[in-house]
Amino acid sequence: MKLSQILFSQGIGTRRVCAGMVDAGLVSLDGRVLDDPNEDFATAGLVLTVEGKPWPYFEKALVLLNKPAGYECSQKPKHHPSVMTLLPAPLRNRGVQPIGRLDEDTTGLLLLTEDGGLIHRLTSPKHHVPKVYEVGCKHPVSDEQVAQLLAGVVLEDDPAPVRAAACERVSELHLRLTLTEGKYHQVKRMIAAVSNRVETLHRSAFGHLQIPAELAPGQWMFVDGWRPPAA
Ligand code: URA
Repeated sequence: MKLSQILFSQGIGTRRVCAGMVDAGLVSLDGRVLDDPNEDFATAGLVLTVEGKPWPYFEKALVLLNKPAGYECSQKPKHHPSVMTLLPAPLRNRGVQPIGRLDEDTTGLLLLTEDGGLIHRLTSPKHHVPKVYEVGCKHPVSDEQVAQLLAGVVLEDDPAPVRAAACERVSELHLRLTLTEGKYHQVKRMIAAVSNRVETLHRSAFGHLQIPAELAPGQWMFVDGWRPPAA
């Protein structure tokens, strides 16, 4: 693929801007400044340096964001900034969107992609990718509450019971809950259904993905090569 087309496909800018960046000597590969926007490159494993920063090529980007509290996942946020403001312009230009939503006050692992098929697969009820939540509860968690969450609870406006795939009491006020669905406010509603209340909520895992220790709240990284199994 031609260099200017590669840069354009990665959301770096319009075709004209991308060609201008090459002319200005802002794009390099392995220390060699690239000066021909029409030079062809194989894209597999390609890592360009754009304005001094490494930019790995991905046909479709999959991004892991360590979401801080105080950000909304909606594209049209009402009361707080959107999580999209935490991503650089090229990712926003590419149309990267959250895969499902975390509430404004929920922290932790949020995946985003521009791959509509992947969003559809991962948010479809048929897909049972486990998601792990660290739940800070207002009241001490009883054995009975743990048993109820595992057996299934009925949520308002939803007659089918929902159950936790796993539920572990980590300490008196801390539950680790694994869910395989993603219903609206599911954790908060399940905890309310057993007469407790969520004080803090953090998603620590999505499938086999976890937040690397060095990825601070508000930071993001590309996820290379992970695609979940088909539903
Ligand atoms: N369940 C909730 O209640 N809120 C979230 O943000 C995620 C899961």
